[in-house]
Amino acid sequence: MDNHIADVGRALKQRLQTLKNKRDILRAPELRQLYGGMKDVPAKERPAYGQAINALRQELEQLAQQHEAAASSATLAPIDVTAPFDVNVPANKRPKLLPAETGSKHPVMMERDYILDIFYRMGFTAVESRELDDDYHMFGSLNFPEGHPARDDYDTFVTTQTDKDGKPFIAPAHTSTMQNRVLRQFKPNLEQGKPIAVLVPDRVFRNEDLDPRHEHTFYQHEGIYVDKGVHAGHLMATLKTFLQEYYGKELDIKTQPFYFPFTEPSFEFALTCPFCDKKGCNVCSYTGWIELLGCGMIHPNVLQMAGIDPTIYTGFAWGGGIERLVMMKYNIEDVRYFQSGKLDFLRQFS
Ligand code: DAH
Repeated sequence: MDNHIADVGRALKQRLQTLKNKRDILRAPELRQLYGGMKDVPAKERPAYGQAINALRQELEQLAQQHEAAASSATLAPIDVTAPFDVNVPANKRPKLLPAETGSKHPVMMERDYILDIFYRMGFTAVESRELDDDYHMFGSLNFPEGHPARDDYDTFVTTQTDKDGKPFIAPAHTSTMQNRVLRQFKPNLEQGKPIAVLVPDRVFRNEDLDPRHEHTFYQHEGIYVDKGVHAGHLMATLKTFLQEYYGKELDIKTQPFYFPFTEPSFEFALTCPFCDKKGCNVCSYTGWIELLGCGMIHPNVLQMAGIDPTIYTGFAWGGGIERLVMMKYNIEDVRYFQSGKLDFLRQFS
């Protein structure tokens, strides 16, 4: 009798290999027949007989399970949770994490587009900056000598990985990192008698103590304008026009001397508080004025390093925070709301 069970067992194991659904082996007629044969077995041999069939059934079940486990690990590729999102994948093939209709444009992106619109109408073009740059574009090309204390004003994040000169890569602390590239790229404009007029609205990073006015990651708008005969009056007029357009009202402006290695002369630019019209309020700390951004005439060394002759061409540049502009427009009291992902904040703009 035992031999018969062993024979059936061998045959079923062989058949298991050929089955698509391995669990079907447990429904094999031979197995049922073995159970059915129980009644013909002499009473005292029955327990041993029963145990032998159960053991065979268990063995078949385990084999079926092993096959299933092996098959599923072969067809499902393991997920690499650390893999970066592949930006080259076409938009319609990217994983849809949230249906688009439940999302909305971030207020900073909305305002950035509005700022861009104003500058497009003024004849500017736009260039994106980078989220990692090198020492030359952060400092060298902007006339910061090696070891100059002005570098300390731009304390930001660096990588442990280094470039070919052994210097770490830098998360840019300002959009001015793009000046050298923009000047080089648009130099042919000058040769064709056209100005260089470029806006860089992009993300920057600083090692900041966070408070309602300071964030480690924020956006700047950087303007670069070069042509023959450009002077500081053009700079003031351009910024005033932009700001009046942005806030939709007449504003007064004023400047005071400042220092940046990449401009000469350098200015700090202020405008009358668009919120209280000089009366004094909490937005302007009751002074009526808001110091808004840094600007100046592009330093001759900066032009020269980009291959532009500073005896023929002059230019102005500025750089300021986008969140600052937005906060004043909507009376937002804390810059940290922008990065917080707080839906009750974001929904007010959607
Ligand atoms: N990059 C400066 C900053 O973030 C701002 C700035 C000042 C930009 C003068 C300029 C400029 O282009 O000419 O503090």
